[in-house]
Amino acid sequence: MKSIIVSMIAAAGLMIAGSALATDMPAVAKKNNCTACHAIDKKVVGPAWAEVSKKYKGDAKAAAHLDQKIAKGGSGVWGAMPMPASPKMSDADRKEVVDFILGLAK
Ligand code: HEC
Repeated sequence: MKSIIVSMIAAAGLMIAGSALATDMPAVAKKNNCTACHAIDKKVVGPAWAEVSKKYKGDAKAAAHLDQKIAKGGSGVWGAMPMPASPKMSDADRKEVVDFILGLAK
């Protein structure tokens, strides 16, 4: 019983911390832990997604590039810091998050 209560408190604490750090991030980004390094409108470890969206505005190849970048990781576009690969993320989740990011600047 005690351990159930402790884990409920821990879960509630995580939810509060997550929502404070990740305002406006879509569920798919939270689920895949993108929010650990990204926010919409400010640089965290990785670039602000609003900046990413502006950079690729009007670029027909952007969706395919970002899809592969998220799946395989990489560095050198925004700086030397690499983004880790997300090999377990589903195709549907990647598409959803890429659509979300590219939609920010429209
Ligand atoms: C450990 C930190 C970290 C995590 C977790 C992370 N990113 Fe990144 N992300 C980065 C860094 C650093 C860069 C800059 C890479 C570069 O300069 O090429 C980046 C770049 C990007 C870019 C721009 C890529 C480009 O080539 O312009 C997109 C889009 C992106 N991340 C989406 C995501 C998504 C979606 C997730 C969740 C599945 C995610 N990131 C998780 C650190 C992270």
